[in-house]
Amino acid sequence: MTDTPTVYRPEALVADDIDAYLDTHQHKSMLRFITCGSVDDGKSTLIGRLLYDSKMIFEDQLAALENDSKVSGTQGDAIDFALLVDGLAAEREQGITIDVAYRFFATEKRKFIVADTPGHEQYTRNMATGASTADLAVILIDARKGVLTQTRRHSYLAHLLGIRHIVLAVNKMDLIGYDQAQYDAIVADYTAFANSIGIEEFTAVPISGLAGDNIASKSSDTPWYDGPTLIEHLETVEISVDARQQGAFRMPVQWVNRPNLDFRGFAGQIASGTVKPGDKVRILPSGKTATIGRIVTFDGDLDQAVAGQSVTLTFNEEVDCSHGDVIAAADNPSGTADQFETSIVWMDEAPLLPGRAYVMKLGTQTVSATVATPKYQVNVNTMEQMAAKSLELNSIGVAEITTDRRIAFEPYNDSMNGGRDLGGFILVDKLTNATVAAGMINFALRRSQNVHWQNVDITREAHAAQKNQRPRLLWFTGLSGSGKSTIANLVEKRLHAEGKHSFLLDGDNVRHGLNKDLGFTDTDRVENIRRISEVAKLMTDAGLIVLTAFISPFRAERKIARDLMADGEFFEIHVDTPLSVAEERDVKGLYKKARSGELQNFTGIDSPYEAPENPEIHIDTTAMSADEAAEMIVDHILGNGAAQ
Ligand code: ADX
Repeated sequence: MTDTPTVYRPEALVADDIDAYLDTHQHKSMLRFITCGSVDDGKSTLIGRLLYDSKMIFEDQLAALENDSKVSGTQGDAIDFALLVDGLAAEREQGITIDVAYRFFATEKRKFIVADTPGHEQYTRNMATGASTADLAVILIDARKGVLTQTRRHSYLAHLLGIRHIVLAVNKMDLIGYDQAQYDAIVADYTAFANSIGIEEFTAVPISGLAGDNIASKSSDTPWYDGPTLIEHLETVEISVDARQQGAFRMPVQWVNRPNLDFRGFAGQIASGTVKPGDKVRILPSGKTATIGRIVTFDGDLDQAVAGQSVTLTFNEEVDCSHGDVIAAADNPSGTADQFETSIVWMDEAPLLPGRAYVMKLGTQTVSATVATPKYQVNVNTMEQMAAKSLELNSIGVAEITTDRRIAFEPYNDSMNGGRDLGGFILVDKLTNATVAAGMINFALRRSQNVHWQNVDITREAHAAQKNQRPRLLWFTGLSGSGKSTIANLVEKRLHAEGKHSFLLDGDNVRHGLNKDLGFTDTDRVENIRRISEVAKLMTDAGLIVLTAFISPFRAERKIARDLMADGEFFEIHVDTPLSVAEERDVKGLYKKARSGELQNFTGIDSPYEAPENPEIHIDTTAMSADEAAEMIVDHILGNGAAQ
């Protein structure tokens, strides 16, 4: 039990002098923290208690809370603090917190923003969201249960996301009779784990969110504990608010402000450093330089702006700069690269497909990026590095990422130079638009800095002109046995007869050579198609009309192939044969094997086929012969200007 909490009474201040109150409030430092714990660890109750003890709940809310507590609370007639926080009806019913909720409260010494991140196993992603702006993490432990997998995962994630202050809140001390021995054992257990992942120090506090022990005031039930209360610690922990301001200047451009022809400003939030009119800056990734003209804000021009401020900058020179660029100190700019080693937290039900292109958002930049097969995955229980071919929901791994163009970046842990803004990123699935991962750039790969694009004199256009044709990529897709190879072969014969220069890449054939290391898992198929797309692209650069006949079951990879080509040069040809018909034909006897279980991952049987939604050409093989199909395709292609 606790002494009565009397210390935090902002409303007393309000009564005396509202201006003084607002003034102190405005100049207080701000601590952003997250709370992490498993379901039932008492997180919501703890946050409710913090709000209550800091008297930031207003009278009407309090009345509603008392009422709610009687109706749906779990604490009898007493106040159920969790209800204050678990606002969503769905959460109340399920008894879990499902989204990141930001709460504001203040004491006389400091202001706080707490991100309440869900503890339920599948919601690691929310924690990554909340943690990316936090200075401190409160890791909540149920004293009866001790250190759990979730505790380790959350601590590891908090550390990975650059949170330097960790508080181990050992909760529900009342339920273990305030037993010092049990508390000490939990702290010892956690110390061993923390050391193993590089957490150098943390502060442990024995608490009870429900009873209020060691939250705002010292508990008389833990006389053996002589450390700070939770609030004392939160109020006094030193946060390096100034570090970012001392770093080099970086500002990701959010948008170009061009209200009329006389004004062109670049708006964004300064990630690090300071900026003044007259400063020389470099625009990345282009590397062009400019001089700052004005610093414009809503309240007028500034002489100087610092990290954290949102401003509009103008240049004295006419220099290209647009959304997604980074404006940086000219003499100390960010790096630019297109290959990185990254740490990734996978947050989607569908696992990572190495080689697949995802949308990568970093700062205000949006690029297309592929993730290589992970170097390793981290076992959050043992911190062991385990081999991994992919990353599943909630797993954390290290993998190389290649972006389709150079981007400006900072290593994530260089927080002084904007690392959190220019080193943290998310990956988004191109088709579903779901955020599938959060990641951090560890460093740029040296090879990406040293491999340049070599310009050659005999260009794609020169190759094509010599052959008197426009390069094309005819992409046949369909089930095994649908007739892709047969039709593609007939098309090539006709093109050849017309004097066209062509080449047919066929699935079975390529798998004998270039791709003989690949099987039929989703990952291998993605890599199969990635390589084929690149080879086909090179062949079109040589001026050829290229035909590819691969099942190519995934829309995302067919889209990558399409995106490699110019508009009008890519033809997706869906050789549409119903599964039953292909199976009936079963030319290679593979469907039979797949049905009998002799062959795994067979397309259409136990591996998916995503039919094209808008193919350039659709062939219904049940309605026309292979010859008719070939004729139709050639007419379509040559009619579309390949003859020019
Ligand atoms: S893809 O899915 O990666 O595009 P690809 O076109 O290269 O496949 O290879 C498909 C050919 O491999 C099929 O026509 C069939 O002859 C053979 N094959 C062997 N095993 C499988 C399987 N599990 N699924 C599909 N095709 C298979």
